[in-house]
This record gives sequence, C-alpha cells and structure tokens, in this order.
Amino acid sequence: MKRIGVLTSGGDSPGMNAAIRAVVRKAIYHDLEVYGIKNGYQGLMDGNIEKMTLGSVGDIIHRGGTILFSARSEEFKTDEGQFRAIEQLNKHNIDGLVVIGGDGSFQGAKKLTEKGFPCIGVPGTIDNDIAGTDYTIGFDTSLNTIIDAVDKVRDTATSHERTYIIEVMGRDAGDLALWAGLAVGAESILIPEEKEEFSSIVQRLKNGHDRGKKHSIILLAEGVGSGFEFGKRIEEVAELETRVTVLGHIQRGGSPTGQDRVLASRLGARAIELLIDNQGGRMVGIQKNVLVDYTFDEVFNVEHTIDKGMYKLSKELSI
Ligand code: F6P
Repeated sequence: MKRIGVLTSGGDSPGMNAAIRAVVRKAIYHDLEVYGIKNGYQGLMDGNIEKMTLGSVGDIIHRGGTILFSARSEEFKTDEGQFRAIEQLNKHNIDGLVVIGGDGSFQGAKKLTEKGFPCIGVPGTIDNDIAGTDYTIGFDTSLNTIIDAVDKVRDTATSHERTYIIEVMGRDAGDLALWAGLAVGAESILIPEEKEEFSSIVQRLKNGHDRGKKHSIILLAEGVGSGFEFGKRIEEVAELETRVTVLGHIQRGGSPTGQDRVLASRLGARAIELLIDNQGGRMVGIQKNVLVDYTFDEVFNVEHTIDKGMYKLSKELSI
C-alpha cells in the first residue's frame, strides 16, 4: 500500500471534514501518499482526483460539509461505471480507497472490492442507520441542531398554547427523532420502527391539555410520513391549535460537535490502519466506545435497530 484515495459520498454530514483530515494525516504519518477524489463516485469515474498534502486538510476540523464535495451517482451503480472508476484508480496508481458515507456508499465500496479494488468504509451520515456501529459521524451534531431548534419552537409554542409537530430527517430510521424526542421531553415520538395508535397519541395530548399544559411537542421521523398531513389530522381530531415545522437540511449543516470530531478522527485513522494491513472490504465502526470493523456483507446482513429501552423510557416520561 503506497497510495490511497479518499472520497465522500451520499448525503453529507458534519464531521466528514474531520474524517478526511484524519485519513490524510494518518496516511502521511505512515508515509503513504493521499489522493482526494472530488464529488464522490461521480468524480472518481470522471477522474476528478488531486494529490492531498498535510496543508490540504488544515483548518477544516471544525467545518461542516465536506471539502471533497459529495454526490449520488446512478451511473456508478452499473458494472461499466465501476470499471471506469477502477481504471481511474489504476491510472493514478492508487492502491486502496477510503469511502466516507452511508449505506448506499458502502454498496459501491463493496462492488469495487469485489472487482479487486480494496475499499474501507467510514460511516458518515446524520441518520445513524448503519448496523455495526453505535454512532455514525454527524448524528450527534444533527441531534444537537434539532434540540436547539425545538427549544426555540417551544418558546413560541408556550406563548400561543399550541401543539407542534416537528418533522426530522433520518430516512427510514427513527434514531434522530427518538434521541431528540427524549432530549426535549416530547409528548410523542413517531418513528418507523414503532407503531402507536393514533387515538392514544390524541388521548395523551388531551390529557396534557386538561392538566393545564401550555404546549405539546411531537417529534415525527420523516420515515413515518408527512408532518403536515399528521398535523392536519391532529388538529381535526384533537381540536387543538396545531403548527408543523419541517426542519429539513438545517439538520445536515453546522460545525461538528466534540463527539463527532473525535469519532471522525478515530474512525478515519482506523481506516488507514486496515488498509495498511491489507484488509479491504470492511467498514470501521464504534461499539461500546471500542473501535470495531466488519465486512460489508456483515454490515448489510444485520438490520439497524433502535434502542427499544429508550423508546419505552420516552413513553414512561411523557405520561
Ligand atoms: O441520508 C441523509 C439524509 O439527510 C436523510 O436524512 C434524508 O432523507 C436525505 O438525506 C435527504 O437527501 P437529499 O439531500 O438528497 O434531499
């Protein structure tokens, strides 16, 4: 292993830059050369590849987004696209690739590894939806962004005695909604992994209202459906004045938290160790604060699950 490449792919997440920095610095520390690939797999197929130095990653550890940019590429999902990518990697004499991204990005990394090109996946997504790691890079920052936003919404919710539905991201996973819901003391948390009768949600709202509560907050994961439709139903059935806030891409930006910077630094550096050990085709992760790694198949064959104990607790605390 003499030369490695690094790219970011899929939806960006705060902390990706810290991960790039760790990959570049750790590789150079071990006398490897590093090439940065811009615009994810699309840039790889197009040969958008540049040498990186220690200085390329200076002053980025605290920045959101990704200095390598990101993209989602349909073309890369084809065999032709993947062979084009390998051609570019060979042309630049690159021996191993670090892919920072989510599930979809790792599908691509797996395909490249199967075609003979060793890749390591570093989990970077706000969704926290990847099996084999307790946390993904960006989740903690996004969680804190949501908490900050909901705290602000709560002020106006109280003033006007309203019920608020806050729709958060997470794709098909409920982690952001669950953690944020617990952290803000939400009345209800709606996530794809758990079903709750509409009537019991309404009953809880009504009970709170009858007890003199000034406002109610419901956290709804996007994977459950539209916050606006849900808000309309609540207003009609519960007969409480309701507003809906869709937080959107604000959840993907901002300076990464300390947790995310440290996680990104540890995972990025570990990816280089695995490449040096010739262990391509694996994802690095963290479980119980210990760094772990799994083959891509091991990651894909296990379903990511939410912490059911946390969900139960959220119910107990929102009586
Ligand atoms: O995977 C990250 C994520 O932000 C999801 O939470 C969301 O569903 C999706 O990406 C949004 O994608 P886009 O930025 O392409 O709209």
